[in-house]
Amino acid sequence: MTDNNNVRVAGTHFEWTPAMTVGEPTIDAQHQRLLAQLNVIMDAIINEATLEEVFAAIDFFKEYVDEHLAYEEAYMTRRGYTGIIEHEKKHQNFRDTYQSFRDKLAGGITPASLLMEMEVYLGEWWTGHILHEDKKYYLELGSAE
Ligand SMILES: [Fe+2]
Repeated sequence: MTDNNNVRVAGTHFEWTPAMTVGEPTIDAQHQRLLAQLNVIMDAIINEATLEEVFAAIDFFKEYVDEHLAYEEAYMTRRGYTGIIEHEKKHQNFRDTYQSFRDKLAGGITPASLLMEMEVYLGEWWTGHILHEDKKYYLELGSAE
C-alpha cells in the first residue's frame, strides 16, 4: 500500500498477515479493508483531519455494518456456529457505536476528535473482536467448505 502525498510515519500502520485469517475468503477480504481503513484514518489524523475525511470514515462504518457484519452473521448461521448468539451481541455493540459516531457528528464534534475516537474504537475492534472473537468461529468451523 502506498500513500500519495501523505506523510508516512514508520511503525504506525497496520498490516495484514495470513495468521489473521478466519478461514473464509470474503470475510478475510472485508477484514483487510477494515485494516486499510485504520491506516486511512490514522493518516487523516496525522495530516490535519478534514470534514470530508470524517464523512468518508462514516461511510466506511456504514458499509461495514450493512455488508460485513450481516455477511459474517449469515456465514456463522449457515455453518452452525455454536457461539453465534454471543457473537451477534458484540456486533450489535458495533452497530450502536456507529450510530453514536453519527450522533456526535451531528452534534458538532471536531473532525480530529471524532476521527481519533473512530481510530481507537476500530483498533480495539481489530484486536479484541477480529483477532479474538472471530478466531473462535474459525477454531470451531475451520476453513469454509
Ligand atoms: Fe464478528
